[in-house]
Amino acid sequence: MLTTLENPEIAIDYIAEIVRLKKEMNAVILAHYYQVPEIQDLADFVGDSLELSRKAKETDADVIVFCGVHFMAETAKIFNPDKQVLLPDLDAGCSLADSCPGPLFKEFREKYPDHYSVTYINCTADVKALSDVIITSSSAEKILRNIPADKPILFAPDRNLGAYFAKKLGREMLLWQGDCIVHVAFSERRIEQLMIEHPNAVLIAHPECEEHILKRAEYIGSTSALLTYTETSPHMSFIVATEEGILHQMKKRSPNKEFIPAPPEDKGCMCNQCPYMRLNTLEKLYSCMKNRTPEIILPQDIIDKALVPLNRMLEWTKVD
Ligand code: 13P
Ligand code: SF4
Repeated sequence: MLTTLENPEIAIDYIAEIVRLKKEMNAVILAHYYQVPEIQDLADFVGDSLELSRKAKETDADVIVFCGVHFMAETAKIFNPDKQVLLPDLDAGCSLADSCPGPLFKEFREKYPDHYSVTYINCTADVKALSDVIITSSSAEKILRNIPADKPILFAPDRNLGAYFAKKLGREMLLWQGDCIVHVAFSERRIEQLMIEHPNAVLIAHPECEEHILKRAEYIGSTSALLTYTETSPHMSFIVATEEGILHQMKKRSPNKEFIPAPPEDKGCMCNQCPYMRLNTLEKLYSCMKNRTPEIILPQDIIDKALVPLNRMLEWTKVD
């Protein structure tokens, strides 16, 4: 039982109320792995960006409550223009999406008209509307392999993810210079120290991390791939270089294994937690369902244009 911030005298059982509202509204709650544990535990589905896009496209619920960041809720809206899509906190943005404003991206595209534009899903709907195909970290390899070898590629907005796949596939790409504030905060020095203190622990990392961190990793993958790896690998201890929220699912799935969050350089900061993802709280989730706001609204022409590269991503990564 918790009280509301607006009215501390009134005690509300948020979990029970959210469950009740969900039924009343015929809503589905989708949550990313970087959400706080209490939201992950309440959600109908928890997943990575690709899985959440698939769920958003398939749902027959009337309302989608998206516990993630703005670009993820926008993606759900693009797939469901006739449904109401709610986001607990409209300020839940993303440093990658912010690094790539639509008008600048348009200029970039116009400068290289012969290039195929491959864009990470962590971008605004305007940028999606200007792209040829959207990728996520778990679908990038398959999609990039599908583009003819002689076709030059523009990759936006994550320079680290782009550089990782360029190297892995031996394919040159023109990279937009954006990055994720969480994944560039990890300290190589402190990770090294942890490896000495925990000699049996292996480092696993998300490809949004910088190359000097990735070089030391035993395994590199999207949030879902990292989760599966910790379940199936014979190792018993892991240093995890991605947002700390994923540790909740890792511990749930492998209760006997040890998970250590990779540390940022500054001991005092909580830089391995995404400040945008963490804006969503149980109270805001309850409030957005009760008041049916904040809601994601997008212009129809942007929806129509952005749907093309998003559908292409799902088509090229279809699981038969
Ligand atoms: P994935 O869940 O696709 O690995 O993306 C990670 C991320 O940074 C989402 O914001
Ligand atoms: Fe964006 Fe990074 Fe937060 Fe993901 S973790 S939403 S990429 S800032």
